[in-house]
Amino acid sequence: MGVRRSEETCERKSRHGHNQPRFTFCDISSSFIARTSACLDRQSERKGLNITRIIPITIGVSLAAVTIYLSMQQQIGELAIADEPTQSVAKSTSSTDSPSVTKEGPQAATYVGRQQCAECHRENFEQHAAHGHASTFSEVAETDLPDIFDQQTFDGGESYGTYQYSKDSSGNLTVSLLADESPSNLPLQYVLGSGHNARTILTLNRASDGVTEGIEHRVSCYPNQRLGMTVGHSEKKATRDLEKFGDVTRGELTQRCVYCHTTTGILTEGRIDRLVSNVNCEKCHGPGSEHVRQARELKDPPPYSVGDAAWDVESEIQLCGDCHRLPRSITKQELRDYPNTLARFQPVGMLRSKCYLASNREMKCSTCHDPHQSVHGISQHAHEQKCIQCHDSNDSSHTICPVSAEANCIKCHMPVVPQEQDIELHDHWIRVHED
Ligand code: HEC
Ligand code: HEC
Ligand code: HEC
Ligand code: HEC
Ligand code: HEC
Ligand code: HEC
Ligand code: HEC
Repeated sequence: MGVRRSEETCERKSRHGHNQPRFTFCDISSSFIARTSACLDRQSERKGLNITRIIPITIGVSLAAVTIYLSMQQQIGELAIADEPTQSVAKSTSSTDSPSVTKEGPQAATYVGRQQCAECHRENFEQHAAHGHASTFSEVAETDLPDIFDQQTFDGGESYGTYQYSKDSSGNLTVSLLADESPSNLPLQYVLGSGHNARTILTLNRASDGVTEGIEHRVSCYPNQRLGMTVGHSEKKATRDLEKFGDVTRGELTQRCVYCHTTTGILTEGRIDRLVSNVNCEKCHGPGSEHVRQARELKDPPPYSVGDAAWDVESEIQLCGDCHRLPRSITKQELRDYPNTLARFQPVGMLRSKCYLASNREMKCSTCHDPHQSVHGISQHAHEQKCIQCHDSNDSSHTICPVSAEANCIKCHMPVVPQEQDIELHDHWIRVHED
């Protein structure tokens, strides 16, 4: 395998295009999956980001600090403002969509916030506002959760205890254990998930060694204001006090959780710096200050992001797979938490499909999904038209279904796979199912 060559290519490609330095595309072998994994390996080795490798490392306190430092460097990426003193965002404004990063030095593109894009890209802006991406990270106090949880109790089960929630006069929500053992109580800080499937609470804690820990609460809010066990928690056990409130992760693992649900945000000392909430325009397109400046000066601004010559099918799969997961990036813990199905990881399924493998790598996420438009509210019929683009019975060069050439493709070839807590996901490994 051309591993040595891959390193060169990684280096070269990582300076191009959008702001995902870790998930650059490397051209080293015939299979995309192999290319991706080789690249991820090298990239993560160099940047100290291999999660399975990090777990033992974080045991050593001083090394843990290095790990966090590296992850901050990585997040900042091409912003090239790593040595600027971190700018803390006041609590009251931290989970708005407004930018929190200021301009530093010539040519260093910075985040300007999605409002700025609305001026010239009104349609993308409005569609995105209705997408799950636009509401996947907020402060609990800014949502209806304090009212939903207030005065409720919930039995967390053996080794946990019974939770009691209460809202104080300023609207903040806390949880305590009824059997008043320690730990006494915990604020509910951030909420992840738009609520279409679930909303899960995350509280940050500065551990005694300075490392930031994240407590993913054991109770989540499901549609129709129903409280229920957080997905993946039923098999867990609390082995230390803080874990009675939920699953505790440290350092890089907690950073990943924030990384996938925000545009930018760096964990430090038990809080989030430079927070820009939600998966906004600039998460996918990269910091936009230069593009906005150029677009204001020139009628025809230079290529940016997806307009870049280096942007191709694989770039897009890398982009979406960065959060929706690639085969290589599924952790052992995730396999344990979601043992019955890989339907949660759409790119993994798509990459195994004949449609992808046999279509000259023409298939990508945006073949079926406008990246700005939510899938909720799109009719099944509209999705099936995407299948028919390639499986067209009027064109003899296409493979046609002998069972149903016109309708109901999704039901048979991308069926819903029921998950815990009534969540439904579609199997993106498009194939003929036995029954
Ligand atoms: C930074 C991480 C991240 C990236 C990059 C990302 N997503 Fe998502 N995506 C999420 C999260 C988090 C959710 C869950 C939103 C929610 O809470 O409902 C989601 C939800 C979705 C949904 C379902 C919600 C809806 O309203 O339709 C679709 C479809 C989707 N993403 C497609 C894509 C595609 C296509 C790409 C690449 C162009 C992509 N995503 C890139 C994190 C990401
Ligand atoms: C590698 C990226 C990644 C990490 C890490 C991650 N998420 Fe997500 N999360 C996603 C994506 C992508 C979705 C959308 C899933 C879908 O609709 O297929 C999602 C969906 C969700 C949802 C919506 C409900 C659901 O199950 O679809 C919640 C709640 C959530 N995540 C909470 C969390 C919390 C809390 C953490 C950290 C403890 C976390 N996530 C870590 C990418 C990530
Ligand atoms: C989840 C990732 C993601 C997010 C979030 C996102 N985009 Fe995009 N955007 C893409 C991808 C991928 C393409 C290329 C699609 C293609 O190849 O057809 C694209 C294409 C575009 C284009 C050029 C083609 C077109 O649709 O006009 C514009 C302009 C654009 N995006 C603006 C925005 C703006 C403005 C926002 C925020 C309101 C935004 N995008 C949010 C992924 C994203
Ligand atoms: C002052 C107007 C203006 C603003 C503000 C603006 N854009 Fe653009 N954008 C343009 C023009 C003009 C083009 C090129 C023509 C086209 O594709 O629509 C463009 C193209 C794009 C493209 C396609 C890339 C390409 O090279 O083909 C993307 C993606 C994009 N913009 C995203 C954004 C994002 C994200 C923001 C907010 C951070 C933003 N734009 C803010 C005017 C603007
Ligand atoms: C980009 C073009 C493209 C799109 C879009 C597409 N397919 Fe395919 N699909 C293909 C190709 C090419 C093959 C391989 C056919 C062959 O060579 O036999 C294929 C094969 C299949 C197979 C046979 C799989 C197997 O393992 O034998 C099924 C079933 C299928 N597609 C269903 C669908 C459905 C359902 C959709 C829409 C959700 C869809 N396809 C969308 C190109 C596409
Ligand atoms: C061949 C068409 C097709 C392709 C390609 C495709 N999807 Fe989907 N996707 C669908 C359909 C159909 C649904 C179900 C929509 C609905 O709810 O009716 C869906 C749903 C989703 C959802 C919502 C959760 C779920 O599983 O129901 C997410 C997230 C998603 N897709 C992400 C992706 C990503 C990321 C990619 C690229 C790796 C991708 N999809 C490629 C057809 C496709
Ligand atoms: C009622 C379930 C059902 C529906 C609806 C359905 N299919 Fe199929 N499809 C099948 C089965 C079963 C096979 C395998 C048939 C066989 O091998 O004899 C198949 C085979 C295929 C194949 C492979 C054909 C080949 O020659 O290898 C393709 C492509 C395909 N379907 C696409 C589609 C598309 C596109 C749609 C929607 C327009 C669709 N299917 C609707 C059940 C269905």
